[in-house]
Amino acid sequence: RRHVISLADFTPNDYETVLQTAVSFLEVLSRRNKKVPTLQSKVVANLFFESSTRTRNSFELAAKRLSADTLNFAPGTSSLSKGETILDTARTFLAMGTDIMVIRHQSAGVPLAIARDMDALSGKVAILNAGDGKHEHPSQALLDLLTLCMYLNPKTPTAKDLKGKKVAIVGDILHSRVARSNLWSLLTNGADVHLAAPPTLLPPEFAEYGAKIHYSLDPALEDADFVMTLRLQMERMGQFLIPSLREYHAKYGITRDRLAKCAPNVQVLHPGPVNRGVEISSDLMDDPRLSLIDKQVTNGVAIRMSLLYLLGTAI
Ligand code: CP
Repeated sequence: RRHVISLADFTPNDYETVLQTAVSFLEVLSRRNKKVPTLQSKVVANLFFESSTRTRNSFELAAKRLSADTLNFAPGTSSLSKGETILDTARTFLAMGTDIMVIRHQSAGVPLAIARDMDALSGKVAILNAGDGKHEHPSQALLDLLTLCMYLNPKTPTAKDLKGKKVAIVGDILHSRVARSNLWSLLTNGADVHLAAPPTLLPPEFAEYGAKIHYSLDPALEDADFVMTLRLQMERMGQFLIPSLREYHAKYGITRDRLAKCAPNVQVLHPGPVNRGVEISSDLMDDPRLSLIDKQVTNGVAIRMSLLYLLGTAI
């Protein structure tokens, strides 16, 4: 494949290839010299039309660790403010010799539209979706996969480690591109996926994909091996879909007490950014015995090195 836009068409072999390549980069990142020359002279452009801390910076660091040249685009200081279109912006980066475009946009479908345009013009540019609207966030789900498998099997992690593990995804499923990409990844790799949220944030059609749907938290948490909490995405809520943040936390917030129902070694994940005290209690988030949140961020660099390497060496 030349682009990574969605995980819907990822095969078990695709997941394993990305995972094992990331594991080899984790070894590189543990060395004193953390750089490899693999993408020397390649150009990676980060086109982030929507704000980001983790994804943008870890793609930039990943590209630098692979010795690529990086370009960073910020809409506020770009010619978008003079009326230039998104496609003309991408064409400008193409004309500068960009090999890989990493794209985040608030609207679903923008990375795919750019990929089609770049294919028509050049056929030699790889597009990586860094999060598009409510659609998908493939690199987040892949770093989550690496984090889960590293926890289950630190020495020789494989996607097969997930088979039969119960994963509860809790929170604003309706607006979450992370939930959708994780759904494809977890189900393809054999996990038992449970979704829990208020009915206003969990459309019933999610059951069609093979996940179990819960409108209360307890059945989702019972014997869960992992709990993924999701941010309430206020910026995507056209109308207020929950009664109040306090009530949301009381019913769906993940706390130490609530984890008592889960499997004994349960771990909590969150893609970030976090609304502390809303979707997860602050003390739980900061407890390294129960939270994999910092590991997710660390593993994000290795996963993004893996994706850049696999796409960058194929073009
Ligand atoms: N998880 C995630 O996508 O975070 P950022 O918005 O900070 O990139």
